[in-house]
Amino acid sequence: MEIFLDTANLDELRKGADWGIVDGVTTNPSLIAKEGIPIAEQIKRICEIVDGDISAEVVATDHEAMVAEARTLAKIHKNIVVKVPLTRDGIKTTAKLSKEGIRFNVTLCFSTSQALLAAKAGAYIISPFVGRLDDLSQEGMELIRNIVSIYKIHSYPTKVLAASLRSPLHVSQSALAGAHIGTLPFKVLDMMFNHPLTDKGVEQFLKDHAKAFTPK
Ligand code: E4P
Repeated sequence: MEIFLDTANLDELRKGADWGIVDGVTTNPSLIAKEGIPIAEQIKRICEIVDGDISAEVVATDHEAMVAEARTLAKIHKNIVVKVPLTRDGIKTTAKLSKEGIRFNVTLCFSTSQALLAAKAGAYIISPFVGRLDDLSQEGMELIRNIVSIYKIHSYPTKVLAASLRSPLHVSQSALAGAHIGTLPFKVLDMMFNHPLTDKGVEQFLKDHAKAFTPK
């Protein structure tokens, strides 16, 4: 499973990229707003840090404006994947511009029927939100499993990106469910390293080594 960082923060992206395990980035209007830099400018900087798919989301809500915004975003860099919400206008925009070679990440997906529409429209990525469903006492991971199965049965090439992941357990469960990509906040990626037995093991190895080789 590919690991994407779900952030527009350059320091977090630099740290993640430095570990050599980040395959791409997702952003959304809320994440861009947090950084206080206009979207095109911030996305350009992100593309300089991570060499992989970078999702940049439109803020337009009607088809005509979305088409214009999608074309502008797609021109920023070859790695841009234009993100649109799973609305009628978003799907229409995806269907139209996918044919021209622009790649789309259809976001805010909360059902299998929505995921089917995105695949039919030729989306490159579908983003079902796990955590936001869990918040409503619906099992978000079940949605990932079901979309992966439907796409497999019908051989849709659309990649399933598990979004709104809130914990390392969410990440492993997404991988087990067959998601092609998981996008996670930096904090969750950082937590994935942690295990007390790893820390204890390293400490013990160093202690034993020092005992044997430190001159008395
Ligand atoms: C994905 O592309 C979204 O930006 C993100 O995963 C949403 O996560 P949240 O529900 O924690 O805001």
